[in-house]
Amino acid sequence: MKEEIGYPYILLPEDMFHHTAGGYGGEGTLCGAIGSCAAIINLVAYDNNKTHSKLVADLINWYSQQTFPTKMFDSIATYKDQVQVAPGSPLCHVSASTWMQAAEVSYKDKPRKDRCAKVTAATAYRTIEILNQHLEGKYAFIGPVHTEETEECLSCHGKKAAYTEKGLNDCLDCHDDHTK
Ligand code: HEC
Ligand code: HEC
Repeated sequence: MKEEIGYPYILLPEDMFHHTAGGYGGEGTLCGAIGSCAAIINLVAYDNNKTHSKLVADLINWYSQQTFPTKMFDSIATYKDQVQVAPGSPLCHVSASTWMQAAEVSYKDKPRKDRCAKVTAATAYRTIEILNQHLEGKYAFIGPVHTEETEECLSCHGKKAAYTEKGLNDCLDCHDDHTK
């Protein structure tokens, strides 16, 4: 984009998103790949219809459902054919930890670094697909997707009811069902 479009993209420093590694400052919050790509989506697609926010939401939902890491980059990866786990969450903590348990590696191990590099590359790839489709007017919004159980929780806690909860991840990933 710097080469083809120039301004404003030439103003973006190369290390602009370095802080997002390890879920922002190593705190395991939002996966840094999502955060960085979301910033780019905002730059490219911002408008008064909140198109940028809807695209970001779709990217987050896409991420949660992927069996990561993709094998798409195996030809250039050091560690090929790695164990795949769908994170079910956009959180670095959940995404990295569930994968590490499944793959039996620790955070400092090189296969873990390879895995997160592939997750980042796949997320950037998907972001470019989304933005290209959007700019061609062909992007079909997906919107929020929840499990039936979460739908049930949201029938009381969600936007159309008491609205005492923010976020659309699967509630039962973290909470018990107090209605049972
Ligand atoms: C029939 C409506 C209803 C449904 C369905 C429901 N909740 Fe609640 N929930 C409430 C109400 C009302 C409170 C507040 C209770 C209070 O003030 O003590 C609450 C409280 C909570 C709390 C606060 C701590 C606690 O246990 O009291 C959590 C967490 C919670 N709900 C999560 C969930 C999750 C997760 C689901 C789905 C599996 C769910 N709720 C489904 C009505 C509901
Ligand atoms: C990634 C984990 C995670 C997910 C997913 C999640 N929550 Fe929570 N939620 C928490 C944590 C952590 C707290 C704060 C500690 C606590 O009270 O359990 C919390 C707090 C709450 C509270 C306030 C509880 C209180 O005692 O004051 C409610 C209500 C709640 N969540 C409902 C939901 C609902 C409904 C969903 C699904 C749409 C959901 N949460 C999804 C982790 C999560």
